[in-house]
Amino acid sequence: MSTHTRTRRLSVPQLVAMKGRQKIVSLTAYSSTIAQVIDPLVDFILVGDSTAMVGYGRPSTLGMRLEETIAHTRAVVDSTRLACVIADMPFGSYQASHEQAFRNCAQVLASTGCDALKLEANLALASTVEFLVARGIPVMAHIGLMPQFVNAMGGYKAQGLCPDSAATLKADAQANLQAGAFSLLLEGVAEPVARAITEASAKPTIGIGASPACDGQVLVTEDLLGLGGPHVPRFVKQYADLGQVIREACSRYAHEVRDQTFPALQH
Ligand code: KIV
Repeated sequence: MSTHTRTRRLSVPQLVAMKGRQKIVSLTAYSSTIAQVIDPLVDFILVGDSTAMVGYGRPSTLGMRLEETIAHTRAVVDSTRLACVIADMPFGSYQASHEQAFRNCAQVLASTGCDALKLEANLALASTVEFLVARGIPVMAHIGLMPQFVNAMGGYKAQGLCPDSAATLKADAQANLQAGAFSLLLEGVAEPVARAITEASAKPTIGIGASPACDGQVLVTEDLLGLGGPHVPRFVKQYADLGQVIREACSRYAHEVRDQTFPALQH
């Protein structure tokens, strides 16, 4: 069921203007099939680098390649007309230098037609965000639990639980906002810190495992549908068990082919 009466694609400024008026809803999509279904239901679609794990079965997001980001983002843009589409820049495509970041971000924007890009950006990368924003690239800054830092963190760990970590997160948020990020994505952030960052920010915060205090929420679509595999994060609410639905339908099909009840004459 659609919850809005949009007739054209939501723009980045319209998304920003939703702060304080209504909660922002987002889900991931990597394929045309999912993108078409969620397009009328969400405000923005994130073509996350979680594609590497969910779509390709890789152990982390680190293996995502730029050409894969471009192909999946193109499929999502071409299959939708209402939701703002934001692509995740893959590991290694923006950290080396400002010039490398601009070249790759410009390639993704120009060749996919997406609306904006998301970068995992701590304080050290805020100058990259500033460089991109000054050159016309809208950036959502992902802070908190940054999966591209999984090796440095030694796993996927909630952030902002102690005073030092809370102070680091607030500094990351402020630096990225000053750099011109149009939104902050907070992943795995303790509620008091997510609330403080959200209240101090004129730009919307989008949470994933970061409490209801955020201005909006995002989840990996496969996780909420019960297609996320065995390692679904604790912060996910599963709204359906499509894994079971698919298993039942496919096993009926296999059974009917073997006992020759499918195809019947009408098929
Ligand atoms: O890659 C992704 O899907 C993400 C979300 C988990 C926020 O970055």
